[in-house]
Amino acid sequence: MNDRIVRVEGVERVFTGRRSAVHALGPIDLEIERGQFVAIVGPSGCGKSTLLRIIAGLDAPSAGEIVIARKQPTGPLCSMVFQDYGIFPWKTVLANVRLPLDIAHVRRAEANATAREWLVRTGVEGFAAAYPHTLSGGMRQRVALARAFVAHPEMLLMDEPFAALDAQLRLVLQQELLRVWEAHRRTILFVTHSIDEALLLADRVIVMSGRPGRILDDIEVPFPRPRSRDARATAEFGALEERIWNLLKGTVEADEPARVSA
Ligand SMILES: Nc1ncnc2c1ncn2[C@@H]1O[C@H](COP(=O)(O)OP(=O)(O)OP(=O)(O)O)[C@@H](O)[C@H]1O
Ligand SMILES: [Mg+2]
Repeated sequence: MNDRIVRVEGVERVFTGRRSAVHALGPIDLEIERGQFVAIVGPSGCGKSTLLRIIAGLDAPSAGEIVIARKQPTGPLCSMVFQDYGIFPWKTVLANVRLPLDIAHVRRAEANATAREWLVRTGVEGFAAAYPHTLSGGMRQRVALARAFVAHPEMLLMDEPFAALDAQLRLVLQQELLRVWEAHRRTILFVTHSIDEALLLADRVIVMSGRPGRILDDIEVPFPRPRSRDARATAEFGALEERIWNLLKGTVEADEPARVSA
């Protein structure tokens, strides 16, 4: 089986300022299979967000190329979910979730029905008419997830989507994302600072070096699905956690606050 959705070939990104240049990323070579859940971990500033932006087409590489194999040429290629929700404060929850369908000129009745289905799946159906400022952070992130899925993208690019949530809420949303992903199998690229989160969610964990970010390791995560937090209790989970932590430890400079957590 080789159904590749993304191939990243020799991609590098150098940011050039007036006086200096920052070699932020690469070279990176990476292939992603359709339907795979891939987590990316790496120290702060190693270019994870840059890589996602390049894959999304929001930024261009300084060298190398991205090859994308699309299955649905007319639908959206990817949705992004960020740490800070990225939902519009002046739109109701329903209108936020419906937005990708409005942009695609889906008829209002049908768009509302589809958006409501996703509000149910992400547990915010009771808030359809509410405005984002009246919601908690966890609720807002659920809205962002619903909006990301409603567009029916081929790929979801998630940049530390749960980083701003407290620990308990994070657990709940991890489980919900797993449930939705297991039912709908979209390709997901998920950046996180948490090794635990990467191992719990992903089929595969890409470990990146410090800047310029390169791939240090590419680890298959063997736990069966549907997955629950019980996977964490196994010795294998501990061993993988240790392996990734040992790789990352070396990448965190002594004078930099460590933003990787076990
Ligand atoms: N638009 C830009 N202009 C100049 N430098 C940039 C720009 N975007 C990112 N950088 C630099 O490129 C490097 C990689 O940034 P990026 O945001 O991709 O890292 P990251 O791995 O996502 O970090 P974090 O874990 O803190 O989110 C950093 O040194 C950053 O300062
Ligand atoms: Mg980032």
